[in-house]
Amino acid sequence: MCGIVGYIGERNATPIILNGLKRLEYRGYDSAGLAVMKNGQIEVRRDVGKLTRLASLVSEQPIEGNIGIGHTRWATHGEPSARNAHPHVGSTGRVVVVHNGIVENFLELREELSSEGVVFNSDTDTETIVHLVERYLSLGMGLEHSARKALTHLKGAHGIVIMSSEEPDKIIAARIGNAGGVVIGFGEGEMFIASDIPAILEHTRRVVFLDSFQMAVVTRNDVQIQTLNGEPVTFQVHTVPWDPVSAEKGEYRHFMQKEIHEQVRSLTDTLAGRVDFEEMSIRLPELNLSSELANRIKKIVITACGTAAHAGMVGRLYFERIARIPTTLEIASEFRYSDPIIDADTVVLAISQSGETADTLAAMEEGRKRGAVLWSIVNAVGSQAMRLADGFISMQTGPEIGVASTKAFTAPLVDLYMLAILLADLRGVLTENQRRRLVADLRLIPDLVGRCLDREADVLSVARALKEARNMLYLGRGINMPIAYEGALKLKEISYIHAEAYPAGEMKHGPIALIDRDMPVMALTPLDPWYEKMISQVEQVKARGGTLIVVATDGDQRVPALADYVFWIPQTPWLLSPVVTVIPLQLFAYHIASLRGLDVDQPRNLAKSVTVE
Ligand code: AGP
Repeated sequence: MCGIVGYIGERNATPIILNGLKRLEYRGYDSAGLAVMKNGQIEVRRDVGKLTRLASLVSEQPIEGNIGIGHTRWATHGEPSARNAHPHVGSTGRVVVVHNGIVENFLELREELSSEGVVFNSDTDTETIVHLVERYLSLGMGLEHSARKALTHLKGAHGIVIMSSEEPDKIIAARIGNAGGVVIGFGEGEMFIASDIPAILEHTRRVVFLDSFQMAVVTRNDVQIQTLNGEPVTFQVHTVPWDPVSAEKGEYRHFMQKEIHEQVRSLTDTLAGRVDFEEMSIRLPELNLSSELANRIKKIVITACGTAAHAGMVGRLYFERIARIPTTLEIASEFRYSDPIIDADTVVLAISQSGETADTLAAMEEGRKRGAVLWSIVNAVGSQAMRLADGFISMQTGPEIGVASTKAFTAPLVDLYMLAILLADLRGVLTENQRRRLVADLRLIPDLVGRCLDREADVLSVARALKEARNMLYLGRGINMPIAYEGALKLKEISYIHAEAYPAGEMKHGPIALIDRDMPVMALTPLDPWYEKMISQVEQVKARGGTLIVVATDGDQRVPALADYVFWIPQTPWLLSPVVTVIPLQLFAYHIASLRGLDVDQPRNLAKSVTVE
């Protein structure tokens, strides 16, 4: 969850680093700092709190130079404070380090280094790294070799950037395991380093991603990548499609609202190049899916966390209903320790917006260890979950900055639907007509979502009425049961209202005791195969004096007599209804949180990508 930015070139590093860190604020942090080198001198500015505090510190005590590194820290070892903020400087003041991840063996390293006379100035695990580099520099090893030697002592996952006035013309960057990415940006006579693409997008879109156990030596005009054993690595420079503007809020107050409204575009983009509306067929070339493999699959295990897991709950129904493949949805943090029964005829399909979620990556590795085929549906280009997999589907939504995921929830729903059709077609379980109809329905989606977004004012008026609620219950059945879970999570994570989701059929087994006027109930009741069941659920809540908000399909004659409020959605093919029913729930959560004056894009305690266990 920490952010890293580095620069080496002809320009002043200070503003480039500060602006880059600002683009990473969404990752969640509690302190920040930067180090800049000039004429062989390293100057450090760092403090607890937000980047505005660091910026005022820099304006009070300016620093400038053509090479520098910066960091936003989400505390893991040592409380948020100036002394624990990165960058960390060693004993000589000639080496400085910023770091993402956890040095799992930092206590023994601290003891070892202290026994050598090292005096520690912080409570962090990171400080052990800078003293290790100094140890080897003092033996005359040079910066590259010293960095490599230091890294071999570290246990755990890391993203690390090092610079030293011993060799002031280079920056060292390294990646070990899945502690968030390390990306190198290529400029003209300048280079950039970051933990995530948005930090450097305004300067370059030409990037290379470090793989695990790789180290880069970055100078103004050159990048050399090597393994931690010093073997040179050839690499390919990617050109990322995300332009700086798309990473800005535009006319919206929050990234989250912008991204909710971007879903017409992002759904169009996730379909782009994958649907032949002449042939009415699907193609997913990056999946490397052969007919042989499609027919060999005995089971699919979908694994993910949070919102991505809710998408997986819908995907499970798609793979069973459309492709007739036994499928389970396993929460990644559970799956990784569940001793799962999987083999070479099992597909483990990970879903992840960031592609860096530690639990999800660990679940993928669990699948790899047991011989499963690994697929992933990922948004962040070049992320670990994309590169670990045997095949992947890119969500293609562009950067999702708001911590609460929205467009990176609806895109994988459509990706899963397309994948289910492709699998069904290859396994011969769909007639030509069935396939053509399923594919044709995809064409409706962007417009249906747009029509829901046009009704935002209706949702806002209900949000005004209910913004003081202290609890809420979300009910759904069948294909929309996962949307109850997603709607509840959205409300929880940005408005801090306690919201609980239930399969509606479970109400009579206990939760109905909760119903009274102070427990508003959101009931997902679109025209789908579970409609009649949901109506009787709504009647039961009504009979007990509950306050009802019902998501209903245009033209419904029964809901208005039962509901206190209605979120109307257009007629939608029921298999794709989750893509549409979630829209009012996203808007509802957003407006309640916004009306409550909360930090919608960076909710308390949360980070955009949870790269630690
Ligand atoms: C969603 O709104 C949350 N921010 C969170 O549940 C998120 O979905 C989860 O951490 C998984 O993240 P990922 O998709 O990047 O793996």
